[in-house]
Amino acid sequence: MRFPKEGLLVALSASGVRAVNNGLARTPQMGWNNWNTFHCSVSSTLLTNTAKLLTEYGLQDLGYKYVVLDDCWSSGRDANGKLVADTTKFPDGMGAVADALHEQGFLFGMYSSAGEMTCARYAGSLDYEENDAQSFADWGVDYLKYDNCYHMGRFGTPLISFNRFNEMAKALKKTGRSILYSLCNWGEDYVHTWGGSIANSWRISGDIYDSFARPDDLCSCTNAADPACIAPGTHCSVLAIINKVAPYIDRGLPGGWNDLDMLEVGHGGMTEEEYKAHFSMWAALKSPLLLGNDLRAMTASSLAIINNPAIIALNQDPRGRAIQRISRDLDVPVDRHGVGETHVWSGPLANGDQVVIFLNAADADLDMSASLEDIFIMDGVGTAPQIQQDWAVHDLWGNSGSRMSLHDAQALLDAKDADARRSFLQTKLDWYNATELPYAQGLSRRDPRLFGERIGVVEAGGKISARVPRHAAKVFRLQSVSGQDTTRKSLLRDEL
Ligand code: GLA
Repeated sequence: MRFPKEGLLVALSASGVRAVNNGLARTPQMGWNNWNTFHCSVSSTLLTNTAKLLTEYGLQDLGYKYVVLDDCWSSGRDANGKLVADTTKFPDGMGAVADALHEQGFLFGMYSSAGEMTCARYAGSLDYEENDAQSFADWGVDYLKYDNCYHMGRFGTPLISFNRFNEMAKALKKTGRSILYSLCNWGEDYVHTWGGSIANSWRISGDIYDSFARPDDLCSCTNAADPACIAPGTHCSVLAIINKVAPYIDRGLPGGWNDLDMLEVGHGGMTEEEYKAHFSMWAALKSPLLLGNDLRAMTASSLAIINNPAIIALNQDPRGRAIQRISRDLDVPVDRHGVGETHVWSGPLANGDQVVIFLNAADADLDMSASLEDIFIMDGVGTAPQIQQDWAVHDLWGNSGSRMSLHDAQALLDAKDADARRSFLQTKLDWYNATELPYAQGLSRRDPRLFGERIGVVEAGGKISARVPRHAAKVFRLQSVSGQDTTRKSLLRDEL
């Protein structure tokens, strides 16, 4: 049966998942936020110096373009009820910070809370929404992260929370300035069911911490449907967040995304494989990618993770659909360590390619596999046309192909100044530049820098197998080599 075009639109808006219509975040937002490393030690110098390093390390040109200031920036309100910037941390005021970042080609993000106070007990915006939105607009702010602390009891049902966060959505809109609106209510009150109608992203969990899988009582609330789940907490591991978002990952659409929280890559609490898995999952789950590390003290290993253009291209893929979990095994025997958890995830990309991720959260290296029938299960149980095709398998963390070597990453970090870094990236490495060639174009031109390393072919009806190290992810991009464009083919089938 075929939907007329109008029918499809009605169906989308009736199910309430149509994204907020402000034209922003058509792909997940990318940038840097100070909180994970610097907490309240914020200043204009920190922001502008970080922006400079984002440029010099080629990260700005990979898409990291929002520089987001988190909590602790104000010194209260003036007699007119207007928020005032802390003049020790921001001597020239917030407008000057915005100007400096804009001059460097960045967009400026700021923070407040839909509460009487922010989480660090600075002035919050509850009942001051119009005043504060106007200040943000006057200062030239492009992004607002809007937290949930000290909400004065105004939560407990989706409608109560929606109304509270919608006040700021309306106030931002009223300013007439284009401001990306990023909710931070930690998944409370089923935000995945209403966030997309007023905001560009919504946090789905308590705060992340720098651990891959360690359970922590402070992040005990992992099931949004549990009525006892009223305090999402902190110290949420990468695995806890992945498991929390899994049931409603499809809520992310161009314009509005599930936010899995800021990245921990580079803090030192995880292994290199864990950080690669964390970054890969955030990218393919279509979370905003906000770096949270100290760029002044970055290792080559961290740089060569956050700058992998083939992984970022999954996140920025114009089709805008997250991977889905197609299997979860909680009872994988792991030698003498008992049992462990593994997942297989899969999802379609704009050009008809398919991404497949083997996630091994168990405490031992394991063999994992998935058949084409499993991988394309969302296209028909055993009937997907893709099962009958041959697929080239590209390893997106492969050592040849798109990834920067550790040696080159170290050379870039060690280069003597901005000019040396620029010429190293452009001349020596011919490094991917999404400012010049946006991901959508690079993908449609099949730019090899976005496709990792080709490692083999899986034939029609076959399966992919791989040895996956402990706490790691294998990330594959499958490309049809049967001479058919699968998107086109399934469209034609539907039209018959
Ligand atoms: C909350 C948020 C964090 C951060 C802090 C700031 O915990 O979830 O991301 O913004 O507040 O105080």
